[in-house]
Amino acid sequence: MPDVKQTSLPSSQGARPDGRLLKAIKRDIQAVPPIWLMRQAGRYLPEYRATREQAGGFLDLCYSPELAAEVTFQPIRRYGFDAAILFADILLIPQALGQKLWFEPGEGPRLEPLEDGKAIAALNVTASEDFLSPIYETVDRLRTGLPAETDLIGFAGAPWTVATYMIAGRGTPDQAPARLFAYQHRQDFTALMDVLVEATAQYMKRQVDAGADLLQIFDTWAGVLPEAEFAEWSIAPTKALVERLRALGVTVPIIGFPKGAGPLLPRYVAETGVDAVGLDPAVPLSWAVPTLADDIVCQGNLDPLLLVAGGDRMLKAIDGILDAFDGKPFVFNLGHGIVPQTPPEHVAQLVERVRNR
Ligand code: CP3
Repeated sequence: MPDVKQTSLPSSQGARPDGRLLKAIKRDIQAVPPIWLMRQAGRYLPEYRATREQAGGFLDLCYSPELAAEVTFQPIRRYGFDAAILFADILLIPQALGQKLWFEPGEGPRLEPLEDGKAIAALNVTASEDFLSPIYETVDRLRTGLPAETDLIGFAGAPWTVATYMIAGRGTPDQAPARLFAYQHRQDFTALMDVLVEATAQYMKRQVDAGADLLQIFDTWAGVLPEAEFAEWSIAPTKALVERLRALGVTVPIIGFPKGAGPLLPRYVAETGVDAVGLDPAVPLSWAVPTLADDIVCQGNLDPLLLVAGGDRMLKAIDGILDAFDGKPFVFNLGHGIVPQTPPEHVAQLVERVRNR
């Protein structure tokens, strides 16, 4: 079990050798691939539920550097994952831009929906920068407190996915409100994407300045878009975000996760400029490995519900993924986030299987 500090110390100076995740993304083929899991900090862990209770609410937890760092450390202590992911949420950006955000207990995030171009024009990128300072303090505490071999992932939502919540005010089954808004008010929607690209680039750059070793862009709702709109609202803003980050001097690797992109994955990989790509559980590896794995480092893609079910079926699926990527640079992950009903002991079995089969 790695030694994970309970308290923060002054920032460590000097270069840190690449951990196993960074090595894989730099195309180093390792006998055992690195493993981390989306939503590895969360409600399936009793210690997360206790810390969230102590914080008061989910947003209080996100904005408390001490407690947000604590919940980030928890799955590293338990399972020794190769990477930690900053504890925060993709919806902090809209809040920082001036949109009202709250969490309905037992339901999820709610935003006051953006109704028109006037509401979009009122969003304030400059104001967002200091609003998010507690998050940078969390990153600093994390880099200081994590074991040296554990890579630290910073993240944000892709402009499209964040915009879907900003328009609808919540998650909906297919994010129809944002799709309709983008069709009917293309100019206003483009203005919204421009704001999100700039605010997200500044946010991610500050995460890297504070100690993040690499970044992941979550495009959870990429899969609801037809091909032309996928190019316009998922690929183009992601490409603009990656380019803006590079222009700001950010050199760390970037993982893109366009959930549901399916056969549009090769185009996403070719055009966005990301260094690695996350595959969701529905992506067939018999297609993805020959199509993608020589061009880009892949990450994924165990079904989170197999992690709930456990047993032989889960172990077979893990072996199938490991076999499919044998001899390629690869990062083991789920195809989407851990769900709350996941038994923590199944996560331990997963890590054990990946490392010692
Ligand atoms: O992965 C991690 O451990 C890091 C933290 C993280 C959270 N959200 C914490 C969280 C990350 C990377 C996210 C990303 C995120 N947030 C996404 C993209 C990835 C995905 O899951 O699709 C999206 C769409 C959101 C927006 C969001 N936040 C929703 C829709 C919800 C409600 C659904 C749910 O699981 O409750 C959240 C809440 C949220 N974000 C929780 C956590 C741990 C649960 C909050 C709680 O404690 O009740």
